[in-house]
Parts: sequence; C-alpha cells; structure tokens
Amino acid sequence: MLQKYQHCLVSLIMAGGVVFCWLGYMYSTSLSPNEGPSKYDEELTWHPVVLSDRSQRKQAMLMEPVRTDVLTVTPWLAPIVWEGTFDPQVIDEAFRSYNLTIATTVFAVGKYTRFLHALLESAEKHFMTAIEEYIHQRANYIFCLDVDMIFHGRVGPEALGKLVAAIHPWFYWVPRSQYPYERRTISKAYIPQDHGDFYYQANIFGGAVEDVHRLTKTCREHLEMDKSAGVEAVWQEESHLNWYLWKNKPTKLLSPEYVWDDLRGQGAKEIKLVRFSSVIKNKAEVRENP
Ligand code: GAL
Ligand code: MN
Repeated sequence: MLQKYQHCLVSLIMAGGVVFCWLGYMYSTSLSPNEGPSKYDEELTWHPVVLSDRSQRKQAMLMEPVRTDVLTVTPWLAPIVWEGTFDPQVIDEAFRSYNLTIATTVFAVGKYTRFLHALLESAEKHFMTAIEEYIHQRANYIFCLDVDMIFHGRVGPEALGKLVAAIHPWFYWVPRSQYPYERRTISKAYIPQDHGDFYYQANIFGGAVEDVHRLTKTCREHLEMDKSAGVEAVWQEESHLNWYLWKNKPTKLLSPEYVWDDLRGQGAKEIKLVRFSSVIKNKAEVRENP
C-alpha cells in the first residue's frame, strides 16, 4: 500500500519537473514497541488522552494563556503548534499507548542527494524520538519531508493529526494578497487575491495515510492538467498544496518553528525554538527551477 503513496509522491515531484532519480528513504516507527503488534485502524486519528498523575502536575490556567504573541488556533478551530502550547511529556505519554506507526518519505533527487545524510542523522536525534524504529507493513500516519532540511529540536507526536501542514517562515506577517499563491486563472492551483488562510511550505506535510493520499492524488492530477495546458504553477507542487489546503482545511497547523529557514537566522522573537529548517544552499547550483 505504501508503495502506492510513494508512487504518488514521486509523481508529485516529477510533474514539478525536478525528478531524475530517487533515492528513497522510508522508515516506520512505533511509539510503543513493547506492547505487541500494532492494532491498525484506518480511522485512528483521534486518541482519547489518558495520563498518569505525574504528567498532570502542572495546572493549565484558563486566564493565563501560554502564548499571547501569536495565533494558536485557526478560525476553523485547528490548533497551531508553537513552543509553549503543549507539554512534551504529556504529549509523549498521551500517544505512547497507541502504538502508532508513522511512515516518512524523503526524496533525494539529483544533486539533492548530498543533503540526505545530515537530514537522517538529525532525524534520529529529534524526529518522533519517543520511538524505537520498527518496520511495519501499514502506517497510521505519513509525513513527507524535503531533503534539504535539518532537525534541530523536537518534532514529536504533537505534530500528528488527520491533515497537517506547516506555515511558511517568510510570509506569516503579510496580508494574504501578498502570499506567493498561483495567481493565473489558467492553472489548477489558482487562488484569488481575497482568498486563502495561510501560506504553507511544502517542505513538511503529513497526516493520516488516507488523507495524505487524497491530497497527493489531487495535486498530482492538477499538476498533470497544468502540464497538458502548458503551464507550471509558480511554486510547482507547493502551489498545488496551497490550493488543496485552501479547499480542504488542515486539522492541525505547524508553526514556522517546524519549517524554519536558516536564511532568516535567529532574530524572530516569536520563534522560541527552531525545530526543523531549510539549510542554506546554492540554489542556482542545485535547483532546476529558481
Ligand atoms: C522560498 C523557498 C521556496 C518557496 C518560496 C515561496 O523561501 O525557498 O521553496 O517556498 O519561498 O515563495
Ligand atoms: Mn527544499
């Protein structure tokens, strides 16, 4: 089954015109390897939270919001994950008993293979680490990562949800009319000036396997339709991802902590912790597109 999704993802990038070959990397992880075989459940995207007394020591105060400087929930009531909005210990405990399997795809294409080693090394330290590595036939969740990225801080089960996307680090303070959405009506990725919620970066997205499959299938179809019409969206698959997430709202949003850009440096005061970031690279040298 997962091969099907890999195929879709390969196609997604291919239609964007950058694939020559792929060195795929996929691993599955289990949050609780000691509890026997995983109970696979396609609908398992909501998990009742049961906590020990130890994890509940810190009281949440309704009149003392943990973040007052940033939006932590969308108008459609999806959480936006920022440092301070969750307790890592509580999250790890809440998810541990579900024995979840999380598939991860990373495509290293052409000259991008040079980034693979550092990404994987950093993933071992920071990505879903309350976890032992396990290879399962079926996954509950799937995450798709760009290869030219590094983990610097925790990216754990707080990032899990039915449909999850990350807010781009360069546009979150500007009006949506200035987002780099595709603006030509001829493209299937077209978003009008007065529409859209956030500008998402395609470097990390994920969710329940079925939801991500629906997303990649739609984007692939739209990329192919564009291609037949002789048009390529301004930011290729990222433009189609933004169109999809405009029409199908994500159930959880990752703040730019989860998709930072090293070019932005360390100065942003709303970013308390950079967790995952794009490495600085010579774009002219590695990219087909600008
Ligand atoms: C850049 C990023 C691109 C694309 C673009 C959108 O910072 O490198 O991948 O997301 O922003 O304007
Ligand atoms: Mn990239």
